[in-house]
Amino acid sequence: MILLDGRAIAAELRAETRAQVAARLAAGRRAPALAVVLAGDDPASHLYVRNKVKACREVGIRSLEHRLPADVTQGRLLALVAELNANPEVDGILVQLPLPPGCDAREVVAAIAPHKDVDGFHPLNAGRLALGWPSVVPCTPAGCLHLIERVHPDLAGLQAVVVGRSPVVGRPMASLLIARSATVTVAHSRTRDLPRLCREADILVVAAGRPELVRGDWIRQGATVIDVGINRVTGPDGQARLVGDVAFAEAAQVAGALTPVPGGVGPLTVAFLLRNTLQAAG
Ligand code: GUN
Repeated sequence: MILLDGRAIAAELRAETRAQVAARLAAGRRAPALAVVLAGDDPASHLYVRNKVKACREVGIRSLEHRLPADVTQGRLLALVAELNANPEVDGILVQLPLPPGCDAREVVAAIAPHKDVDGFHPLNAGRLALGWPSVVPCTPAGCLHLIERVHPDLAGLQAVVVGRSPVVGRPMASLLIARSATVTVAHSRTRDLPRLCREADILVVAAGRPELVRGDWIRQGATVIDVGINRVTGPDGQARLVGDVAFAEAAQVAGALTPVPGGVGPLTVAFLLRNTLQAAG
């Protein structure tokens, strides 16, 4: 079984980005700049933003953090986005989701200038991806595809099953796989006989947000399994630990390639954010 070591693979990608940023600076251009907007006090969001800001620093991308209270108004968020859109020193804008209750994430995301949308969440960018046009690719599915292509450089004709239909992972993941000529099925909470469907998959991408949903006997022998889940659970010993959406020990007995949690997809997401920011800087 190939263990897809996201930390090591992401480090390679970050090294490439660092070299490209250095080349820009050597050519007399300014460092790329990413504005990160974090509203409210969701602990997971704070951790993700900390990781993103730290990763920016390590490759020479400037990050500008904007922290807003949980009771921020929609108007204040939209005004901040408008200000960042207009600021020529800002190349990329990331609004960390979820937003606090009472805010309309769709309206905020749609207000971001599409050429500064490093998440690829703006409807224009999401639409381009769905149409198979060149576009900004959302960071998590981009990371998943990178891992998959390590194992399968050519996806044509392979059977892919994506579990989850979210705008952040499932839907763009399906578009990326279709663009590489995989045969793609998108499953979700209402899918009939999910275990049987998963067993058909040469490539199984799981982004369901349900701890250890996918069991060993749902996996075809030799399949490539990408686990996007990050779930905090309390073990039988009372200790909190992180688990994915795939029962790792069981899956490891059957899969041909598998991502761990943590240290699988997560680091790739951050690495692709840096890439998208550098690309937005032009
Ligand atoms: N929340 C969970 N994943 C993401 C992501 O990739 N980008 C943003 N902005 N928010 C998220």
